[in-house]
Amino acid sequence: MQITLETKPYATLETDALVTYVFEGDDPITGRSADVDKAGGGALKKIAASGELTGKTLELTLLHSPAGLKAARLLVVGAGKKNQFNVAALRKIAGAALRLLKAKSAKNFAFLAGEELSVEDAAQAIAEGLNTGDFETDKYKTEKKDKKIESVSLVGFSDAGKANAEQGLRRGSIIAESQNFARDLINEPSNKLTPRVLAEKAQAMAKESGLAVDVLEEKKIEELKMGALLSVAQGGPEPPRMIVVTYTPANAKPGAPVIGLVGKAVTFDTGGISIKPADGMEKMKYDMAGGATMLGAMRALAGLKPNVKVICVVPATENMPGGTAQKPGDIQTAMSGKTIEVLNTDAEGRLIIADAITYAKQLGVTHIVDAATLTGAIVVALANVNVGVFSGADQTWTDKLLASAKAVGEKMWQLPMDDEYREFIKGSFADIQNIGSGKGGGSITGAWFIREFAGDTPWIHLDIAGTAWNDDAKPWLAKGPTGVALRTLVHLVSTF
Ligand code: BES
Ligand code: ZN
Ligand code: ZN
Repeated sequence: MQITLETKPYATLETDALVTYVFEGDDPITGRSADVDKAGGGALKKIAASGELTGKTLELTLLHSPAGLKAARLLVVGAGKKNQFNVAALRKIAGAALRLLKAKSAKNFAFLAGEELSVEDAAQAIAEGLNTGDFETDKYKTEKKDKKIESVSLVGFSDAGKANAEQGLRRGSIIAESQNFARDLINEPSNKLTPRVLAEKAQAMAKESGLAVDVLEEKKIEELKMGALLSVAQGGPEPPRMIVVTYTPANAKPGAPVIGLVGKAVTFDTGGISIKPADGMEKMKYDMAGGATMLGAMRALAGLKPNVKVICVVPATENMPGGTAQKPGDIQTAMSGKTIEVLNTDAEGRLIIADAITYAKQLGVTHIVDAATLTGAIVVALANVNVGVFSGADQTWTDKLLASAKAVGEKMWQLPMDDEYREFIKGSFADIQNIGSGKGGGSITGAWFIREFAGDTPWIHLDIAGTAWNDDAKPWLAKGPTGVALRTLVHLVSTF
């Protein structure tokens, strides 16, 4: 799909549809939409007066052969309350418009932006909404729908705003394409995406994007004594990988901060010997969403070129219950030297993240964010609405991330990390145990386990188990992988 800026008057554009949006209120047809309506003899005002068009969030009103326009259709999208309008709302409007028009076999359309946001923010949000909205999960269907939007023109930006709009369009496209790169990886089934294949895909992405990449194979992983990662991998025949992708800015200064992005990549989580129930287990192909999101973020950063060095570390493995699998009660020695009592082999994400964080610190990272589909408990706490955020002692680092989440419109919620929870994972026979001792707070104890390995390094853990996968399609997004947290991470690094 091609997205371009168009400065010709929208009424003269011969296109399959013109899209505009309206706010909820006594008279939704005001501002831009009133201009559109005037040329057409007030049809929209009439529909609004009848109560059919109210401006409620993502209400879709489609008119054919609209008077006064060269466009074949006019699509009016509800934008909700004007005082709640932001980039997230605009992104959804663009995505929902695209998905509706695609379903109606349109090939192209023009999107009329309003003037509520800065030109750059608006263009970026529209580009993001269109690109992420266009993503489909039909890769393995032999009969694909031939419905495809070929091009979209953004209209409504003045000549004076053109440079800023181009800038926003470029940023938004890079970010959304990277989000789709991550979503494509997350959607891959485990027979198509093993740890080795993920590593190959990371290498190809790095090469294409001009990033440095280093993939540790099992021999090297053994040499480095990554006992926690190896303990998870030993349950099946697929060897693990530790994937390292590095972005170095042109003017890198010695001693400057280095951000570490660590992402869990369990390409399939059966639970191991502590095996999961069959019902719904197929979803566990997305247990590598954290790793995919970090790789996607790196892809975006390569295009956006921020001023800070970033090292991405992705531990990749399957979690299988084979004859060589680790068993409950086994004691493992992590790369850091800490001993771990594995009381439940299904709490494997924290094990592999532990070694990845130790390795990232060895590589010189000064600030860490990890993302992982870590716990079912986060779904209980926050459902599929908010990402769970957990902070080490450095709350300023976490506040930066929360501000970035707010700026890009991703919902994130910080949970407590009181010292009392640390007690839950004290080991009986080793330094630490990989699950809490039956007192609830499952997501917090998981985070505390990881924190033990982050030590004093400023660290944030994102539990994306509830938010990385859409069980149902949304009007603006297909069912399946969401790519959540990528936009926040890119914003965090870009503004560091
Ligand atoms: N990958 C799962 C977490 C998960 C659960 C992700 C549901 C998405 C949806 C993780 O490895 C896991 O199994 N965690 C256990 C931890 C427990 C044994 C302490 C869980 O949440 O049940
Ligand atoms: Zn598990
Ligand atoms: Zn898992």
